[in-house]
Amino acid sequence: MKILVLNGPNLNMLGIREKQIYGTETYGDLVNYVQQAAKEAGVTCEVFQSNSEGALVDRIQQAYFDETDAVVINPAAYTHTSVAILDALKAVMLPAVEVHLSDVSQREDFRQISYARLACEKTVMGKGFAGYKEAIDYLAEKYGK
Ligand code: DQA
Repeated sequence: MKILVLNGPNLNMLGIREKQIYGTETYGDLVNYVQQAAKEAGVTCEVFQSNSEGALVDRIQQAYFDETDAVVINPAAYTHTSVAILDALKAVMLPAVEVHLSDVSQREDFRQISYARLACEKTVMGKGFAGYKEAIDYLAEKYGK
């Protein structure tokens, strides 16, 4: 099984950005953590990060053609603004789980809307890196082959 893990804008700044919210571990640490979680779940995974909405849409579309079985997505700020990412997820019809490092439900009003969620089976938030593991385990168990 192949899982595509997508990370949106500013997640490449983990370890630098708002440490009181996102912690001190770096984006490289997150990628290593996700790869290890995938290995433990017995799936292969590709991790892709972009600060650009179009690049994320392009990568989601590509998933339709490249044997991807499922998607884990932290759209970051695009969560709250991007109909394009929602439409791309709907277009490829792959099972998807939304992840947020922080508990967005306890944050500002503008973070309370998630467009991506409308195309996701499940949302995990407020669990830091462990949220990605929960998402991978969920998809591996439900759709693994
Ligand atoms: C985030 C939450 C978003 O509201 C924010 O814009 C991010 C990161 C999270 O992982 O907690 O960049 O998706």
